[in-house]
Amino acid sequence: MSRRGTTLLARLALASLILVSAGCTPLDDLLAGVFGRSMRDQASFDPYEDPLNAPDGSVPFASANLPARVGDVNVGQAEGLQDVPPPYTTMDVLNEAEVVVSLENPVEATSESLDRGQELFLRFCAPCHGPAGDGVSGYMLLAGYPPYSMITERVSGFTDGHLYGMIRMGRGNMPAYGHRISHFDRWHVVNYVRVLQGVASPPAMEGGGE
Ligand code: HEC
Repeated sequence: MSRRGTTLLARLALASLILVSAGCTPLDDLLAGVFGRSMRDQASFDPYEDPLNAPDGSVPFASANLPARVGDVNVGQAEGLQDVPPPYTTMDVLNEAEVVVSLENPVEATSESLDRGQELFLRFCAPCHGPAGDGVSGYMLLAGYPPYSMITERVSGFTDGHLYGMIRMGRGNMPAYGHRISHFDRWHVVNYVRVLQGVASPPAMEGGGE
């Protein structure tokens, strides 16, 4: 064979090797043919395969987000919690359904409650409603978010249950925070909102309100 022919052949061989290895599976098949097994035959998980099913009777960690007591981390069960609030929908919040507005606030507005409420409020609510709740200074507004004050007479006139419902389910442009703020924490936020609105007395804020 001429020298030119040999080079051409070498190039063809190289090209087909690149093609074959890029394809991967044909090369695998070839190697499986030679060695009797392929690396594809192994005990690995398929994408999205659930390696282990949840045991019978287990409850999702954030289910309903109802911790047993004030200050407890939620572990899915509501034992010990009196008067578990019934499930309701965003439509119920919108329609001010009885199940939402008549919900009683079980958490007293102590200074601990207000401290906790403030911490959560600044973390979750202030971006849109502003640290004062007036909807003026929330930094989401810089991104074009519509301002919404919660210290108006109208919003101050709502029941604690309605405010709780807004946090739990959200409405319209306001996202739901029920999965991030647990049952008692929602009430702490409600207590704090009441202070911002001037409905509850600020003196309870003494000793940690900064
Ligand atoms: C992403 C922005 C955003 C965040 C964060 C947010 N809100 Fe809102 N909020 C809104 C908007 C928008 C509305 C008006 C909703 C509508 O028009 O239906 C609203 C309305 C409200 C109202 C008035 C309800 C009514 O019936 O008029 C309350 C109370 C409220 N929010 C409380 C909160 C609390 C408490 C938090 C924190 C847990 C919070 N919001 C977090 C955007 C937000």
